Amino acid sequence: NWSMDDFIEMQIHKIRETVGDKKVLLGLSGGVDSSVVGVLLHKAIGTQLTSIFVDHGLLRKGEVEQVMDSLKGKFGLNIIQVDAKKRFMDKLTGVSDPEKKRKIIGNEFIRVFDDEAAKLDGIDFLAQGTLYTDVIESGTDTAQTIKSHHNVGGLPDDIKFKLIEPLRTLFKDETRELGERLGMPSELVWRQPFPGPGLGIRVIGEITEEKLTIVRDSDLILREEIAKHGLEREIWQYFTVLPGIRSVGVMGDGRTYDYTVGIRAVTSIDGMTADFAKIPWDVLQAISVRIVNEVAHVNRVVYDITSKPPATIEWE
Ligand code: XMP
Repeated sequence: NWSMDDFIEMQIHKIRETVGDKKVLLGLSGGVDSSVVGVLLHKAIGTQLTSIFVDHGLLRKGEVEQVMDSLKGKFGLNIIQVDAKKRFMDKLTGVSDPEKKRKIIGNEFIRVFDDEAAKLDGIDFLAQGTLYTDVIESGTDTAQTIKSHHNVGGLPDDIKFKLIEPLRTLFKDETRELGERLGMPSELVWRQPFPGPGLGIRVIGEITEEKLTIVRDSDLILREEIAKHGLEREIWQYFTVLPGIRSVGVMGDGRTYDYTVGIRAVTSIDGMTADFAKIPWDVLQAISVRIVNEVAHVNRVVYDITSKPPATIEWE
């Protein structure tokens, strides 16, 4: 594709001209946009780029490893991986209100990023995966919060960054195309949307390690079965939630009293409206059997058959 190759050439030229011999900082979220910016900048300025990847403990199973293996391992980006799991968990313990959880996760994210950024010397630029859609509307995700936060100078006063936003003129599909042209793996480029607060809003109510494990393990099974049956591109977003209720079941000749896992899968164009995905019964059955057999403390699986509106895609 000629125009995308031209775009890459032009951006690399522009980035080199802007940055000169200075240093650039990038916050990686595990999502498509920041990953593409990382690979593009690395191509342009190599070791002058430092990336910070905050692990808040609310990502899906294998996600941290996948991002690190690919961006650090394959592409050679210099990434500071910050294990902030305990920091987030300490702040979230005892909190069950969804909006409070969102606020805590968003704020803590910025604090962790700022703390790490403050340790670095001689950074002049902050790179961001701002897309054209972010420019015309103000979004609600964590990345957005960081974006606006840093735009208004939320970092400590002695750190003043100039912004670099190479995706500002691109839509999501063009960003994905760019990622593919840059040789990025399709599991990174075609990642389904994932909310900034992550699994924090998929454990309904108070978050505990046990509940996170159930969501993480059941979500991986769901993803594996969807992939196995070739439904990945048809379904816009799919994940499991843990409503936190327990119900009675039987196993062997014993009675169980365990958790219910909810499956959410929708088709959509932009997430504003959505229909529940009409996943074939046999696929749903395979998912249900595996979740109950393989995930401890789950004895029931339900499928969410509401569309948006009136429901939202996430349960919180
Ligand atoms: P809802 O649940 O509002 O979700 O129908 C629409 C889309 O937005 C995502 N979502 C979020 N993304 N921070 C985000 O970055 C959030 O707090 C958040 N809440 C929902 C959701 O995953 C879906 O793609």
